[in-house]
Formats: sequence, structure tokens, C-alpha cells
Amino acid sequence: MRIFNSLGSNYNSYYLLRGFFNVFNENKNNKLKSLLEKKYNGKVIFYYKGREAIEVALRILSLPKNSYVAINGLTCLVVDKAVTNAGYKCQYLDIGEDLNFSPNSLHKALIINSNIKAVIVQNTLGIPVDIQKIKKICDDNQLVLIEDLAHCAGTVYGDGGLAGTIGDFTVLSFSQDKIIDSVSGGALIIRNKKYLDKIAKTKKKNIPITWIIRDILYPKFTFIIRNLYYLNIGKVIHRLLRISNLLSIPIDLNVNNLHNLPKWYINMAYDYIINLDFDLIHRKKISKIYSDNLNNNIIAKDIITKLNKSTNIRFPIFAKNRNKLVKYLEHGGIYISDIWYDSPVAPLKFQSISNYKKGTCSNAEKLSELILNLPTHKNINENEALNISKLINKWITTQ
Ligand SMILES: Cc1ncc(COP(=O)(O)O)c(C=O)c1O
Repeated sequence: MRIFNSLGSNYNSYYLLRGFFNVFNENKNNKLKSLLEKKYNGKVIFYYKGREAIEVALRILSLPKNSYVAINGLTCLVVDKAVTNAGYKCQYLDIGEDLNFSPNSLHKALIINSNIKAVIVQNTLGIPVDIQKIKKICDDNQLVLIEDLAHCAGTVYGDGGLAGTIGDFTVLSFSQDKIIDSVSGGALIIRNKKYLDKIAKTKKKNIPITWIIRDILYPKFTFIIRNLYYLNIGKVIHRLLRISNLLSIPIDLNVNNLHNLPKWYINMAYDYIINLDFDLIHRKKISKIYSDNLNNNIIAKDIITKLNKSTNIRFPIFAKNRNKLVKYLEHGGIYISDIWYDSPVAPLKFQSISNYKKGTCSNAEKLSELILNLPTHKNINENEALNISKLINKWITTQ
């Protein structure tokens, strides 16, 4: 068995087939728009990346220059960059065991920093935040609330509300390995009508055709790489494609402007969303196998109790000798070195270009050194999840 956390793990042969036909199919722009408008109750605008949608949501607020945006203390660099590109500063909120900032952490930050004007919740790995309390704090302090659904399109909050139906703005990412995956793409949903007229001022460019070709080929390339990995040929192809810049990468720092989302991505996202419920059921089943079978020392109780409401995009475990465990699993054909997240503003290798200062979020620093994610995507079955659990339990006994 060869199992990956990323590298096109959301794709199967059906996806490849759709990838081919969607080059020629009619544009599903209107269908996708009306589906999302109904689901999230707002005006939908598409972008080439989710980060562009976050940036636009923040830009149209026209906040004073020294404003701060509160973001999760464990997040992706592109969220941090979206805030600074919009002209604001990041207020990182430290996280709890559930990988999210708590209402209390937001409340405390507001006492220290009265320039916080907006808040982004991300429901890390699909695990729901306490949205009602966070919303109340936002309302009481006139803060704009943005729900970033990159991990959590399908998460249900504790009170039963669907993630993305509470805040002023909802942001979707359709990028590779996300809960909706059309290789790249994003959407901004303006839910609060008072911001509707501001959107006309933001202009978008077309992306170069080379990006489109690279993204259309990505599912095919990664399918080949994954299937030939056991022969080492896969590794060589992977390296060659990366060196030659033919493989789309999730954190492409060259993507700096706002862009239209071409037809192919829209069609792929539409098809993905139509089938999302099946995916979520599968992910939940796989997560349950991990939570039922893994040694308790390696999982977090606070997360386990929320799995039922989560999208379960990845299953988090926490291990002291993380690198050793990664190597051990690689011997068994399980490749999970791609970690969400390996530093408060991830990935660690780009830490120096983020605005995060060491010591700001001590819990996030500690947890990001321990966390590993187990796969729950469609290319892992129940037996494989059970085998992974057994392998990890065996490894624990050797430590
Ligand atoms: C929490 C979170 N939000 C938003 C994004 C933005 O996604 P995109 O790659 O579509 O810009 C990411 C990307 O990694 C993310 O991890």
C-alpha cells in the first residue's frame, strides 16, 4: 500500500475523467454561483485562490491603516499574507488543544489591542470553533467576522449551524488537498449586504494559459507519481516535474494579484461540491477508525469529541519524536511528512517571511512541533486506516 497526505490524494480515475471532459463542457459558472448563493446566502465572486478572496474581503472593509485582523495562531502563510496584502497587521490568537483560538483568547486580545477590527475563523482541520460566543464578541465590539472554509466546508457548529452561514463574509478555497479540490480556485461570499456595493472597485486579471495547462495536468501527473512511487520512478518523475516547474504547488508566492477563475476550475469545483457529502461521510468513517483504534496518548480528547461535527479533512495526532514516526511510516509506504501545520504560520520553511514573532502563541508553537496528520481522503480505505493505526500503536511501544 502507498498512501500520501497530499500529492493529489483527492483524485481518482473518475476525477481524471472529469478533468478531461471539463475542458470541453459548457461553463457551469451560473450553476456553481446559484448553488453557493443558496447554501451560504450571499453574493458569490470567484478567484484563482482562496487567499485572494480573503484579501478582497479585507480590502473592501476600508479599515484605518493601523488596523489588525485576528487570525488563528496556527495557520497557513497565505492567510497571513492576505492580511498584509490588504494593508493590515495580523493579531495571532493562541490556540487550544482543538487547534483553534477560543472566544476567551479573542476577548483577551481585544483588551490589549483595541485596533483589532476583523476576525478570521478557520475551524482548523474542520474542527468547529465555538462560533456563537465568537460571534457575540464580534457583535459587541463591532468586529467583522470572516469564516474561512478552506478546511471546513461542511463543518457543523455546536448549535447545528453550517460553517459559512454566520459571519459577514465566507471564503472558500478550491485548492489542491482542500476539502473542495479543483487544483486551484476560491470564492468570496459577501453575506453582509452593506459591503455589496464596494466589490465593484476591485479588478481582476486573467491568469496565464500556462498556469491553466499546469493545473489541468496536475491530477494526471500526481496520479502517475503516486502509482509509480513503489518503483522509485515515481520519486524521480516527481523531482523532475518540480525542478522544471511543471507541477502546481499549493504555496506559490508568485501569485500576488487578483485573478478570474477560468471555466475548467469552476466546472471541477461544481462537480466536487455535488459529491461532497459522500466525501464527508467517508472522511468521518476513516476518522472514527483512527479515534477508536489509536493509542490514547497520541490523540487529543478535545478533538475527538468534535469529530462528529468536523469535515475531518485530516486526522491530527501528536507525537514527541515526530520525524522518527514519519520515517517509520515511510517504510510501510505511508507518506505523511506534509504537515498542517508545522509552525504557527506554516510552512516552517517560510517562517522568516511571515510576520509572526516567536513567543506570541506558545501553545501553537508547542503543538506545531508535535502534530502530524493522518489521511482521510478517498484514496484510503477502512482496512488501510486500521493498519496505519496498528503501525502507529506498535511504534509507540518502541519509544
Ligand atoms: C486555513 C487556510 N485558509 C485559506 C487558505 C488559502 O487557500 P488558497 O491556496 O486557495 O489560497 C489556506 C491554504 O493553504 C489555508 O490553509
